Amino acid sequence: MLPAREPDIVSAANLIDRDRACLWHPYAPASPTLPLWAVEDASGVRLRLTDDGGARHEVVDAMSSWWSAIHGYRHPVLDEAAGRQLSRFSHVMFGGLTHEPAVVLAERLVAMAPADPSRASLARVFLADSGSVSVEVALKLAVQYQSARGRPRRQRILSIRGGYHGDTAGAMSVCDPVDGMHSAFAGLLPRQVFAPRPPAAATATAESIETWRDAVEDLARLHSDELAAIIVEPVVQGAGGMFVYPPECVRILREVADRHGLVLILDEIATGFGRTGELFAAWHAGVVPDILCVGKALTGGYLTLAAVLCSDEIARTVSAGGVGALLHGPTFMANPLACAVAKAS
Ligand SMILES: Cc1ncc(COP(=O)(O)O)c(C=O)c1O
Repeated sequence: MLPAREPDIVSAANLIDRDRACLWHPYAPASPTLPLWAVEDASGVRLRLTDDGGARHEVVDAMSSWWSAIHGYRHPVLDEAAGRQLSRFSHVMFGGLTHEPAVVLAERLVAMAPADPSRASLARVFLADSGSVSVEVALKLAVQYQSARGRPRRQRILSIRGGYHGDTAGAMSVCDPVDGMHSAFAGLLPRQVFAPRPPAAATATAESIETWRDAVEDLARLHSDELAAIIVEPVVQGAGGMFVYPPECVRILREVADRHGLVLILDEIATGFGRTGELFAAWHAGVVPDILCVGKALTGGYLTLAAVLCSDEIARTVSAGGVGALLHGPTFMANPLACAVAKAS
């Protein structure tokens, strides 16, 4: 139970009406009757809500704010980390400047990332401002890498049906082409290459996995001179319906990527930080990607922050390539407040 608290001066009904008059909500119409509840308080797993009739409700947020609030609301350690950083500085640009929260966070991410002695480790970190932006950075990094290796035609991405990678244009282009938002933005989005969804873990057989492997291999071979990367959510496609598939399929993607010179991008924005029982879902498959995206639970759901980890090989090649730099740099990159909370989380 949340402790008792005086109702706010602004009544919930008033707040909800004012919201309906001027705000957008996710995937929602601008509507004067949009269903909404006002959050009065949050603690642990619970939210205290008031509806537009003034009735109060206490609920368990089993969705953890879209799978991000992994330690619960108002965690004392995270509250303290945010307060401490706020008393120093909340933001500085990352161009030409650095700070302790970003450096320590990056070191810890590198230390905890999937690793394999036979493969280049994920040693370089780009701190982006949301999951979708981190996917944009990962796609750009893969294209820049291929270009720096003398393959400038490799600009397309092999994605898997049923996937979700975010709502910015590049990220949308690699989401499921039917259930995603492709049809609404047909002229805007780059046309990517889509492999079938892997068989479901519950019913997969050696034969169905073999059939799927052949389909992926055929596509990669057919498009190899124009493909830069493969992107996939390892083991669980989250927003695409919590679809669980065999870890062996992630290993197959690793092999296909290696065979055709493609960068393997694992999107662990939803699955990272223990969501599937392993610290990273890649561990179920024993696969180390070339690029890894994490977000959501990175700050324990406190602030928006994501990270793109890439191998030293990719970082060195892109840095030594024609342009000589990774072409991305958002204003709120490596926000110190978010990094300090992520470090504590
Ligand atoms: C696998 C995956 N990738 C990317 C994203 C996009 O992240 P964000 O909403 O922080 O932009 C999500 C969000 O649900 C996701 O589940």
